[in-house]
Amino acid sequence: MQQVDHTTGGDKLPSTIIQFIGDSDNEIQINQKYASLWNPKTRYVLLTGGRGSAKSFAASTWACYNLTNKDKWKILFTRYTLQTAHISIIPEFIEKIDLLNMESAVDATKTVIECPARNSSIIFSGIKTSSGNQTAKLKSIPGLNAFIVDEAEEFVVEQDFNTIDDSIRMPGLPNVVVIIMNPQDVEHWIWARWFEKSHRMIEIDGHQIPISTHPEVTHIHTTYLDNIRHLNPDYIAKIEKLKQENPEAYAHRYLGKWLDKKEGVIYPNWTEGAFDESLPYAYGLDFGFYPNPDGMCKVAVDQARKLVYLKEKCMQRNNQTKRSKVGF
Ligand SMILES: Nc1ncnc2c1ncn2[C@@H]1O[C@H](COP(=O)(O)OP(=O)(O)OP(=O)(O)O)[C@@H](O)[C@H]1O
Ligand SMILES: [Mg+2]
Repeated sequence: MQQVDHTTGGDKLPSTIIQFIGDSDNEIQINQKYASLWNPKTRYVLLTGGRGSAKSFAASTWACYNLTNKDKWKILFTRYTLQTAHISIIPEFIEKIDLLNMESAVDATKTVIECPARNSSIIFSGIKTSSGNQTAKLKSIPGLNAFIVDEAEEFVVEQDFNTIDDSIRMPGLPNVVVIIMNPQDVEHWIWARWFEKSHRMIEIDGHQIPISTHPEVTHIHTTYLDNIRHLNPDYIAKIEKLKQENPEAYAHRYLGKWLDKKEGVIYPNWTEGAFDESLPYAYGLDFGFYPNPDGMCKVAVDQARKLVYLKEKCMQRNNQTKRSKVGF
């Protein structure tokens, strides 16, 4: 299991930033906390953190470094919604390649950057297109050995992730899956899979933040405090203002603290208990459009006690008109 100390030790100053890769003329400085990304001991590398903590910067630099330094690497870079990659994301990667002094070694198209001398490439794709979900298409790309999921909080269907994950299986090369996310609520499958039963707490700026101890992942957690030298002072002032005004929102957004329940739920004050079957009831049905599931629940209202009872009856995707095997 990877043993890396990811704590910021309560220090509000950024930790040491090192010249991690690059030459003296044209260097890229990456926080030491990201070092294990360059030498992963596990298939999965999870980069979590608050806004502005350099997760995307580190991952794109890592991809560009491998593109131009390793033979036969084929990296799939995805965001859930990623349109016009050549306008939105490829320029960011080209910028890193320039900093690595390798601009003459690569060719870019609208969806791919190639390094012919290395026979390596980065393929860019969204998961969700206007016509639906394209995991089936992505899983058929041959020869992939690395898969980066940026903004994985939007990747809500674990099965879609698994489908692509299964196709990262190149013999003779490291097989690496990098998952980048701003933690959301604990209902996300990433929490259930790598945190729920396996984490320890560290303190960052007075808040308790979970670090995964799951043997399957290398977990790196960073915050804007680790990237402060690359942030605009106005942006830092905005963060500090929120810290004073709303410490919990600050902890979630900028320290990467997970939320207990879905933010913005209409009824936050609920508990689990027995449904009062003596009350009159009705069913509520919400048709979901993929990837959202269809949801149906039984509802009863106890007017006298001011209680609402809800019982989940169905929460399924891909339902057909003729199905409905819901047990009433
Ligand atoms: N090593 C670096 N050198 C120069 N600039 C950097 C470096 N690391 C990060 N930055 C800059 O810091 C800012 C925040 O970085 P980045 O977008 O990677 O953060 P993030 O953690 O992905 O944020 P978000 O959660 O909002 O997606 C960006 O403007 C980025 O260009
Ligand atoms: Mg980012």
